[in-house]
Amino acid sequence: MNDVAEKTREAEVILPPALGQNTHCDGPEYDRLYQESLSDPDGFWAKQAGRLDWITEPGTISSWSYDPVAIKWFEDGVLNICHNAVDRHVAAGKGDVTALIFEPDDPEGEGRVITYAELLAEVVMMANSLKKIGVRKGDRVTIYMPMIPEGAIAMLACARIGAIHSVVFGGFSPDALAGRIEDCESKFVICADGGLRGGKPVPLKANVDAALAQVDVEAVLVIHHTDIPIDMQEGRDHWYHDIRADVSEDCPCEPMNAEDPLFILYTSGSTGKPKGVLHTTGGYAVWTATTFQYVFDYQLGEVFWCSADIGWVTGHSYIVYGPLINGATEVMFEGVPNYPDHSRFWEVVEKYQVNIFYTAPTAIRALMREGDAPVQKHDRSSIRLLGTVGEPINPEAWRWYYNVVGEGQSPIVDTWWQTETGGIMITTLPGAHGMKPGSAGKPFFGIQPQLVTNEGDVLDGATDGNLCITASWPGQARSVYGDHQRFIDTYFSTYKGKYFTGDGCRRDADGYYWITGRVDDVINVSGHRMGTAEVESALVSHARVAEAAVVGYPHDIKGQGIYCYVTLNAGEDPSDELAAELRAHVRTEIGPIATPDHLHLTPALPKTRSGKIMRRILRKIAENDFGSLGDTSTLADPNVVDSLIEGRLNR
Ligand code: WT7
Repeated sequence: MNDVAEKTREAEVILPPALGQNTHCDGPEYDRLYQESLSDPDGFWAKQAGRLDWITEPGTISSWSYDPVAIKWFEDGVLNICHNAVDRHVAAGKGDVTALIFEPDDPEGEGRVITYAELLAEVVMMANSLKKIGVRKGDRVTIYMPMIPEGAIAMLACARIGAIHSVVFGGFSPDALAGRIEDCESKFVICADGGLRGGKPVPLKANVDAALAQVDVEAVLVIHHTDIPIDMQEGRDHWYHDIRADVSEDCPCEPMNAEDPLFILYTSGSTGKPKGVLHTTGGYAVWTATTFQYVFDYQLGEVFWCSADIGWVTGHSYIVYGPLINGATEVMFEGVPNYPDHSRFWEVVEKYQVNIFYTAPTAIRALMREGDAPVQKHDRSSIRLLGTVGEPINPEAWRWYYNVVGEGQSPIVDTWWQTETGGIMITTLPGAHGMKPGSAGKPFFGIQPQLVTNEGDVLDGATDGNLCITASWPGQARSVYGDHQRFIDTYFSTYKGKYFTGDGCRRDADGYYWITGRVDDVINVSGHRMGTAEVESALVSHARVAEAAVVGYPHDIKGQGIYCYVTLNAGEDPSDELAAELRAHVRTEIGPIATPDHLHLTPALPKTRSGKIMRRILRKIAENDFGSLGDTSTLADPNVVDSLIEGRLNR
């Protein structure tokens, strides 16, 4: 894009349509609160903490340092997040309010409506069942579930008794699951017999069995959801319906210190092994509660729908904790956007009169490709706010979402955040800011973004740079489970005294932030973070592979696709069959989300004389950008590049 086009794009501001009474915060109010959150953070967050019920009110609000790294919020406060998400609404006479509306994968299947009172009863039964199989405060519990209410109930039940949940996305392979069970020494697994996605069964319990061939646990609690036949191992595996049949209907909430761990969630980074990002209780509760209300401008009685999976942080913060702490009514959807057809999302919107809809750009792009008709088939007049998360949204997809899905009537919040941030960090607020298609917008209260050069020099004004955050916020991750040094090295060592996000970013003259994507060896595939090193180690674990280098490249639907360069062991012949086998191998090792889009078998990789793989060149070739390969003179064998280009062109 040339400079002029770039500036024009930055200048394009779409003013939000009138929001009626649904505005917590207009422009001047945002400015006032943002200033207050920076000038008096403790005062500001003490006030926001008032959203919660505390067993002991926090006296100390923030106590954190980035050098050395030690982060605490509300450190002497005592609370239980499950009480805040469930019990207190029932105690306040809102037991009959709908909490969850479950929509199954099969549109003909049986949906469920669960009130807060029913949710409380379910959470108590699950919590006591967990106690019965031996779970105690501080134990790690791995949750491997489809998108059914019991997934959320399991998380809340853990929180209720002080157990630390580690949810593993149901699309991960047995190997990936085993690694995550092992890393946090989890002795308990909660799973379903199986799941359904797009009409296809997902063999969750069989995957657990395969994982447990590699690592031992004490007990597995199995929820009956499908009719997939499964094996039950005597003494280890228990049907949930059997266990809950004789547990008590009373289970008090465990008083938790604000800094007691709430959950671990694994995420990929630039090095091989996924990291167990650790979040604690009080700060995370305040952060998800506050962001949910301001960003989605939630009003009691409205129907919220976040289409994410509870296996990702979006599901943790904006399906489970944020909405429920706010006493919201929300849809929980088991299925996918394109089954049985491409109007499924809008059918669900119409059916439940959804007011606020939050999804990923990849889903929007996939649906946009199918045209406007599937959208227009359904009445969407209930929608008043749209949201996106997970990856940059291209302006074309933004406009389609705005004009076709929202009919130009609903503001869009493009929310930038990360597993490590616990909740939304940069976004426009509906009613407060004009929107710029493709820009996440402005920092949320308390967030001080900073753009720095590779050398760490701070950049002012309109500029491009590496995105850091200078001061802590309540929802920030506290550590990497079992490896605090890795936490320090990953986030606080690149730029001393700052949290480094790993993202590149541009700030325009109006102070809007435009995330340009990861600047590390992480690729964003359909809004899911994938470490290139992780895919590489899956590839080299195949007996016939010598070396692998993985890079991202632009992909129309997924945002980024996975491009793998692979060299084979001496004597092995490249073939289409072998390429297919290697793609399947990555799927088995990690899961379907890691399936390579391109597998390029090559005799050699471009390396410097000291043997370092030149990824910059591999990225350019994957992008089909052969004109600007840059300096290739430092390559040990410059001919490698020609053969790689030839290989790319022949695909
Ligand atoms: C990475 C975090 C946040 C929950 C889902 C992903 C990218 C996220 C946006 C956005 C541009 C975005 C960033 C970030 N990202 N939201 N609105 N615009 N990029 O969580 O797996 O921890 O990934 O997703 O690159 O670093 P995650």
